[in-house]
This record gives sequence, structure tokens and C-alpha cells, in this order.
Amino acid sequence: MHRATLCIPPDILPKKSWKTLMSNLENHFGDDASLKEKETQNILGFLLKNSAQNSTKEYSVKVLNSIGNKDIIAITQTSFWKKEHKNIPKELFENRKIKSKANCKACHTDIEKGLIEDDKIKDISSFM
Ligand code: HEC
Repeated sequence: MHRATLCIPPDILPKKSWKTLMSNLENHFGDDASLKEKETQNILGFLLKNSAQNSTKEYSVKVLNSIGNKDIIAITQTSFWKKEHKNIPKELFENRKIKSKANCKACHTDIEKGLIEDDKIKDISSFM
């Protein structure tokens, strides 16, 4: 789960979502709490610094408007995401090459770099 979230650009979620996500992750971290705690704080610091609030990208602004004050930690639950993907058939996300709608990278090749421009999106007919 946390691996998937770190594969999306930090500027696609607001600060509040990252805080919630990272505080829940702590529960999964086992032993050596001090080191892990420091690591977690480092990651959270990075995420907050680069969150949607600190971005001028079009999708960041749209995500912020879409989430508002809601407690959403999954981008796929936002009305923004749903709207952008409404033309994609449901079955396609279950396709064996994609497996889940959270597998952004299957279609957005450079997503971890934050490049979600249209020309970076794979032709979804290649999955059909
Ligand atoms: C099955 C392939 C597929 C998956 C999986 C997928 N997307 Fe997309 N996404 C698309 C396509 C195709 C479009 C363009 C839709 C259009 O223009 O009609 C799009 C559009 C977008 C846009 C708007 C692009 C823009 O230029 O503003 C964003 C943001 C986005 N996706 C984010 C994500 C994120 C984040 C994930 C993972 C949680 C994800 N997508 C998963 C295929 C996918």
C-alpha cells in the first residue's frame, strides 16, 4: 500500500491527506522505532513541502478544489480523478496488465516524476 502511494507525485495530494497517510503508516513499522520515526518524518517533510498546496500545477489546483476539507487519502476517491477517468471502461482497470486503478504507472508512464500531461499517457487501446 505505501509503495503505491509513494509512486504518485506528492503534489497530487494535499497536506492533510499526506499527514493522515503517514501517521497510519507508522503502525506498520515494526521494531527500531527511533530510526523509523526519523525516516517517516523525513518522508513526511518531503511530502508536505511538495504537496498540492505548494504546487501551481493544474492538477494540483483541481485536486485541492475537489478534496476541499474532506478526509480523502486516495486520489482515486476524488471527484476530480473520477471525472478525468470517466471515459475509461471499468473492466480496463481490472485488465491483467493494469490490475488496479491505483496502478497509475500502467498508464501514466512518468507519473512518479509528476508528468501527467496528456502526451505521457499511454494509448489505453493497447491494453484492450
Ligand atoms: C487505465 C489507465 C489509467 C490508469 C490506471 C490511471 N489513469 Fe489517469 N488517465 C488515464 C487517461 C487515458 C487519461 C486522460 C483522460 C482524458 O483525457 O479523457 C487520464 C487522466 C489523468 C489526469 C488528468 C491529466 C491532465 O492532463 O490533467 C490525472 C491527474 C490522472 N489521470 C492521474 C492518475 C492517477 C494519480 C492515477 C493512479 C491513482 C491514474 N491516473 C490512473 C488513464 C489512466
